[in-house]
Amino acid sequence: MTSVTTFDADALLVELVATPEGRADPYPRYAGLRAQAPVHRSGFGFWALTRYDDCQYVLRHPKVGKDFSGAASALGLSDAQRDEQARFREDRSNMLVTDPPDHTRLRGLASRAFTPRTVETLRPGVVAMVDELIDAFRAGEVDVMQALAFPLPVTVIGEMLGVPAEDREQLRPLVRAVTAVLELVVTPEALSAATAANATLERYFADLVAERRARPQDDLLTRLIQAEDEGDKLSEPELVSTAILLFAAGFETTTNLIGNAVLGLLRHPDQLDRLRADRALVKPAVEEILRYDSPVQIAVRTAYEDMDVGGRRVEAGSTVLALLGAANRDPARYTDPDRLDVGRSEGAPISFGSGIHFCLGAALARLEGQVVLDRLLERFRSIELVDGDPVHRDSLTLRGLVALPVRFTP
Ligand code: HEM
Repeated sequence: MTSVTTFDADALLVELVATPEGRADPYPRYAGLRAQAPVHRSGFGFWALTRYDDCQYVLRHPKVGKDFSGAASALGLSDAQRDEQARFREDRSNMLVTDPPDHTRLRGLASRAFTPRTVETLRPGVVAMVDELIDAFRAGEVDVMQALAFPLPVTVIGEMLGVPAEDREQLRPLVRAVTAVLELVVTPEALSAATAANATLERYFADLVAERRARPQDDLLTRLIQAEDEGDKLSEPELVSTAILLFAAGFETTTNLIGNAVLGLLRHPDQLDRLRADRALVKPAVEEILRYDSPVQIAVRTAYEDMDVGGRRVEAGSTVLALLGAANRDPARYTDPDRLDVGRSEGAPISFGSGIHFCLGAALARLEGQVVLDRLLERFRSIELVDGDPVHRDSLTLRGLVALPVRFTP
């Protein structure tokens, strides 16, 4: 590959992660990468994959994993900050950051609560929650992010896990601060805030674990405390870390699914009308929104041995980014991929990842997305965007909106 191509591809990567334009619309940049350098070794020390098959290949590869101790740091950090970031990378206390056999044990202990069948039993409760939130919409304009997209998922996961209702709001900024470490670019300030927020979350959940040990309840946290997997319980740090992971993963992403779904449909009124006319399309519509504008755009891995990816040699020790949002728009996988089509039936998108780390909460997220769309259509005759260009959050790995003002007419 010529240096010119490398330069172009890296310039596109910088636009993606570091400019408001790139964050507002990463898709043309992904298309550029996919066309010019689909398996790209960046000058920043990582590989970036933009084709669906390559992303699947890497995420399912047995010699690819989550040990990031040798990985390049986020862009633009000093040595001291690199050490700070490394502390997050060396965490091995929950399923998201471990390889087998620990991954198998940690995931196994939590997985029963998230099977599609168990999750389906939550549907009536989720419908009631959505209706209650809609009842509280003020007449006229509503910020969907504040009024629905945040409170629903945090309530659902909070109830499941056993996080008291009165504590949830205060945990939100802490979770958000910690997710900064998932980004490719993290400022020194954001990194310090993430470290401090993580410490606060650890104290909070350690206290909650102690409380549940003393007074067991009918909730997931109590079940995790009591869990025995062939005699292999979770250690205290693993319990705390797993509780934080489930709580955080349970709402940050789903909040963005709801926001991205409402925005996507309002920007495509023909698709909204189609959905209104045929509510059986709600399920495929949620899959399509996940594909079209995935709440998680990147999954990161380390190659543990040399491997061929899409015709290029990726060396052992390399950090590899699967750009899920790009894979979801791969024309080799989806017909006319830039079109939002709520009736599309071309298979599940890669938005929940793939392989052993496939999202544990996928069924729950789908359920919440489906109920929201169904109830909004049921309750409102007209739904309109107030601002055609709402602002995206300052992040790429987690893709979502800052606010989404919408006018609802009952
Ligand atoms: C639309 C919403 C969601 C999206 C797009 C999403 C996406 C993802 C992705 C891409 C991964 C894989 C990360 C990787 O391979 O490195 C993942 C893992 C995970 N997700 Fe989700 N997620 C969503 C909602 C949820 C919910 C509601 C929960 C509930 C607790 C959840 C819990 C988890 C957990 C525990 C993992 C780690 C699984 C493992 O490492 O084995 N997610 N999610």
